[in-house]
Amino acid sequence: MKKILLMAFAIVNLTSAMAQISATKALAPTPPMGWMTWNLFADNIDEQMLREMADALVSEGFRDAGYNYLFIDDGWQGGRDNRNNIIADPKKFPSGIKALADYVHARGLKLGIYSDAAQLTCAGYTASLGFEQQDAKTFASWGIDYLKYDYCHAPVDVETAKLRYKKMADALRGCGRDIVLGVCEWGPRKPWLWASAAGGQLWRTTYDVRDMWIDTVHKGGKGIMDIVEETAPLHEYAGPEVGWNDMDMLVVGLKGTGGPSSDLGGKGCTDTEYESQMSLWCMLCSPLAMTNDLRHLGQAERRILLNKEIIAINQDPLGRQAERKLKTDVLQVFVKPLAEGKWAIALLNTGDKALKHHQNFADLGLEGKYKVRNVWTHQDLSRKATSWKGTIEPHQTIVLVLE
Ligand code: GLA
Repeated sequence: MKKILLMAFAIVNLTSAMAQISATKALAPTPPMGWMTWNLFADNIDEQMLREMADALVSEGFRDAGYNYLFIDDGWQGGRDNRNNIIADPKKFPSGIKALADYVHARGLKLGIYSDAAQLTCAGYTASLGFEQQDAKTFASWGIDYLKYDYCHAPVDVETAKLRYKKMADALRGCGRDIVLGVCEWGPRKPWLWASAAGGQLWRTTYDVRDMWIDTVHKGGKGIMDIVEETAPLHEYAGPEVGWNDMDMLVVGLKGTGGPSSDLGGKGCTDTEYESQMSLWCMLCSPLAMTNDLRHLGQAERRILLNKEIIAINQDPLGRQAERKLKTDVLQVFVKPLAEGKWAIALLNTGDKALKHHQNFADLGLEGKYKVRNVWTHQDLSRKATSWKGTIEPHQTIVLVLE
């Protein structure tokens, strides 16, 4: 009897683990990509602006480069109606969210929305605790494809977090529409250990990114390097079977222009630093959520965000996050296995002076001779190389594909 019970228990566990694997594989087989409202616009959003961003995703070539989600973050909500259905702010969204979803879908894009596992969101709007099933059904009826689920105003313990995320994940699974779940508890409860089992397809690894290379003001904001430092050790937890370590939005091109990413020391970065953010987010398989103004793009940010060779590393079907193989005071080296036996290598100069470096591939575990391509200069460097030699500028990341 005991044996039969144990077997039944094992089968139930196996079935739910398999269901989770197939959910992630089906919903987010590679890191989701798109454009998100929060870090530039905060809650100053409305349907007109979102339509313009959807248009720009298409006309500027972003959709075709893979950025196919328009993510509405906090600030869309207008409370609940007399049947407790969550509603959009009628001033910001006079046509309603469904009309926006239709607009977005007609352009080959998907729509993301935002809520929180408590009564109020981080910015103080209506959230989903106690209304998980009802809100999931509402989101499905609007045609929502993705939910970012935040954790402000919720208890700090990990068990409650697991339960609250699972509750929403179960509601989404039962709502009749495929909706990706992005877990956003910022890292303190180590979501890489449990968010996948709870039903999420990605999970933020840190507190909010700011428009800065590294945090020097210590007010709680995270710079690009702070997020790399916290996410690099987590390479074993990501993949198409489980989900993705979400390093928060790409601040590429913001240049300290305002919005939440300019708080807490976010004074802007150089183009070299933005290029490094793109390189590292791609190497570490992070979801790529831009948060710039797509209607007024500069040449530099267009070049960085639309580099198809670096995006291909992020979206590689093998879905393996790069491993940091070397870290000194001035140099970090990352290695990412790619499909078809290829490899990507990133060489990052964290110092303030140009760095002359000679990297033997064998020292990274890559024996033999390789065809080497630099994905930022778009040059084939060599046909049969065993090493790379060159100069890495301060805060620059050289990214090579070896074949
Ligand atoms: C939290 C999240 C941010 C954003 C805001 C919205 O801070 O981490 O990414 O969603 O809430 O209020």
